[in-house]
Amino acid sequence: MPPQAIRKLQPGRLVIASHNEGKVREIRELLAPFGIEPVSAAELDLPEPVENGTTFYANAELKAMSAADLSGLPALSDDSGLCVEALGGAPGVYTADWAEKRAFEGGPGRDWYMAMGKVEGKLAELGPDVSRSAYFACTLALAWPDGHVEWFEGRVHGTLVWPPRGRRGFGYDPVFVAQGETETFGEMDPARKHAISHRAAAFRQLVDAVF
Ligand code: IMP
Repeated sequence: MPPQAIRKLQPGRLVIASHNEGKVREIRELLAPFGIEPVSAAELDLPEPVENGTTFYANAELKAMSAADLSGLPALSDDSGLCVEALGGAPGVYTADWAEKRAFEGGPGRDWYMAMGKVEGKLAELGPDVSRSAYFACTLALAWPDGHVEWFEGRVHGTLVWPPRGRRGFGYDPVFVAQGETETFGEMDPARKHAISHRAAAFRQLVDAVF
């Protein structure tokens, strides 16, 4: 059977199906050259769906489909996370959950410093010679209101450092140094992150396929 043709994205409004400000900012910057009018899920007052999938693909799909269905517009979502080799790929699809504060920690809300500390604590328990290799993964899902979905995946490999460095970026950026780099994603110029990140790698595939 011949491969199914990928649906093209026409110029016009596109929902960025995320409530994570850091992701929305990066996706807006990546979309800038393509004649698309991005509008975020928060701007449209769309609810944040429960991310109960067990893979990046499942969560990306449910976020994009929910936003496309509710808005009547094409919607682009991002499900991403940090996968640490010595932790068997954790936190992986649960990366955002590791930042969730419980009531006694001042929750609800997310604390990225606490989440980075949790990863570091688990590595420390495994001893000083433990591998510090990790990668960020990103799955982008592009959904249309009629239920059609396309997916794209990107990764960036690197090493975890401690203590965290830099105030740029978001999430776990201050502890991640990509292969061949010396600065963490938290220290790096955003333009450089856009050239090498997992999100940029997934985005390049999207651009080749749908524009
Ligand atoms: P989710 O995709 O909404 O489940 O959240 C994934 C989480 O992974 C984010 O909230 C971030 O903490 C983390 N993450 C994903 N991409 C990046 C990145 O580019 N830099 C730092 N952290 C990231």
